[in-house]
Amino acid sequence: MEKSIEQIKTEALSEIQNAADIEQVRTISVRYIGRKGLVTQYLRDIPKLPAKQRPEAGKKANQAKNAIEAAVEDAIGQLSRQKGPSDAVDVSLPGRPVPGGTIHPVTRITREICSIFERMGFDIAEGPEVETDYYNFEALNIPKNHPARDMQDTFYVSDNIVLRTHTSPIQIRYMDACKPPVRIVAPGKVYRCDSDLTHTPMFHQVEGLLVDEKSSFADLKGLLTLFARQMFDTDTALRFRPSFFPFTEPSAEVDIRCVICKGEGCKVCSQTGWLEVLGCGMVHPAVFENVGYDTEKYKGFAFGMGVERIAMLKYGINDLRMFFESDIRFLRQF
Ligand code: PHE
Repeated sequence: MEKSIEQIKTEALSEIQNAADIEQVRTISVRYIGRKGLVTQYLRDIPKLPAKQRPEAGKKANQAKNAIEAAVEDAIGQLSRQKGPSDAVDVSLPGRPVPGGTIHPVTRITREICSIFERMGFDIAEGPEVETDYYNFEALNIPKNHPARDMQDTFYVSDNIVLRTHTSPIQIRYMDACKPPVRIVAPGKVYRCDSDLTHTPMFHQVEGLLVDEKSSFADLKGLLTLFARQMFDTDTALRFRPSFFPFTEPSAEVDIRCVICKGEGCKVCSQTGWLEVLGCGMVHPAVFENVGYDTEKYKGFAFGMGVERIAMLKYGINDLRMFFESDIRFLRQF
């Protein structure tokens, strides 16, 4: 035992301190406290010492071993935190893009329709998609066996429960719950047992209802004209054609001047120059009676429009099924 254990310890610590990398620290560690290391060797030789010196020497050697162990651990920790430039994070790299979704065109148009009416003071109302026969038909003046039920190919859940065929039941639910005046638009999914190029079994409507003491058909025309001009072009022309709905009287269907050909006649409007966009009319007194509104005092009008239809016109989409195929290339465009 030429060198004192103190000396060995001091040397080891300073070597560890000056080590350039983790590899070096490990080599130093082996050299001092490995199986054949200097400190290990020292510990092994202690029994050869005179008995009196042994306890003191053992204590010092163990202290040296612990100190070196701790220094090795420290140094490895520190060196791994300050890695060389090749391992470092390159903060100048552009980030990985997070793939985000877009709003579905049907949702977009629904929101746009609603917000036009909201700006005119309408509230938003909603109702269930699975509806009773009463709300979907009866209360809207469509009794059982009425031929008007054939207009809408209904999905029946049971005798008295249907998937709503239009958003008009929301009118009844709202009037059941609230006194006039009423000013609402009601968006939602509707279902009809119908599927071809221009029909899907599920589609979307936005319903409108206004009830007060002096509303007139002229107000309805004015409101819908204003709506069409905000939705499409400021010079969009409207055409009201007499029609029939059991829950409105008089009733009308509304066409807008074709947004594609501006009325010249094209494939989209079947050469007519006009496109049908919604149904409307003055609320039938029988409907007011069903919700307990005073038919002498109150008048009102209602309208209902197909959202997909409006989206197709607005975006120039010619196939209804595109909306429901979830083709990301189509949906990304909105
Ligand atoms: N509910 C009718 C339909 O789905 C549209 C409509 C609503 C007509 C309100 C008049 C008044 O065809």
